[in-house]
Amino acid sequence: MSINTYKHTFKVDRKERNALNKHNSMLLWFTGLSGSGKSTIANKVEQELHALGIRTYTLDGDNVRKGMNKDLSFSPEDRSENIRRIGEMSKLFIDAGIVVLASFVSPYKKDREMVKATVKDANFIEVYVNTSVEECERRDIKGLYKKAREGKIKNLTGISAPYEAPENPDIEIVTERETIDQATRKVIAFIEPRLGLQ
Ligand code: PPS
Repeated sequence: MSINTYKHTFKVDRKERNALNKHNSMLLWFTGLSGSGKSTIANKVEQELHALGIRTYTLDGDNVRKGMNKDLSFSPEDRSENIRRIGEMSKLFIDAGIVVLASFVSPYKKDREMVKATVKDANFIEVYVNTSVEECERRDIKGLYKKAREGKIKNLTGISAPYEAPENPDIEIVTERETIDQATRKVIAFIEPRLGLQ
C-alpha cells in the first residue's frame, strides 16, 4: 500500500554516479538449483570486476534470508516475496551506481520476469547456472538433498519443489562441462561491452 506518497527526483542521479564511477551499473542475476554453483561463480566474477576497478555488491540467498528476509519461508508465495524484495533492492543499488551480483534459486519464471521489469530490461542480465539435480545431489555441499530424501525438508527445489529453467538466458553455464574460470571469462566477456568503461 502506498497512498499519499510522491516520487522525488534528485540532482545527483544514476547517470551522475555512473560517470563518477566510470562504468555503468547493472544487475547480474544468477539462477539455478541449490548447490549448482551460483555463489561460487558470482564470487569469482566479483573478484575479477573488483580488480578492474568496478564497484560491485553481492546479494546472496543464504545471507539475505538471515537478515532482511528472515521472515520468509520457502513456500511459493514467500519465494516470490523474497525475489520481489531483492528486485527492489537491486533497483536501488543500480541507482547507486553499482554492478549487483544476485544469486538466488529464483525457481519461478514469473518472479525473474518481475525483477527484469522492476530494474528495466536493459539492466538485467540473466545467468543460468545449469547443473543437473543429479549433480547437485552428488555434490550436496550443505546436506540439503540428503535431508530432503529423508523427508526432513519438504520443499527442496528440484526434488520436491519446481524449478522453471530459463528458456532464453543471456548466459548459460553448464557447470558439468565448464570450469569456474571458463564460466567467469564467459560472464566478463558478455558484460564488458555493456559496462561502458571510460
Ligand atoms: S528462493 O527460492 O529464490 O527464494 O531461494 P533463495 O533465497 O535463493 O535461498 C536458497 C538457499 O536457501 C537454502 N535452502 C533452500 N533452497 C531451496 N529450497 C529449499 N527448500 C531450501 N531450504 C533451504 C539453500 O542453502 C539455498 O542456497 P543455495 O546457495 O542456492 O544452495
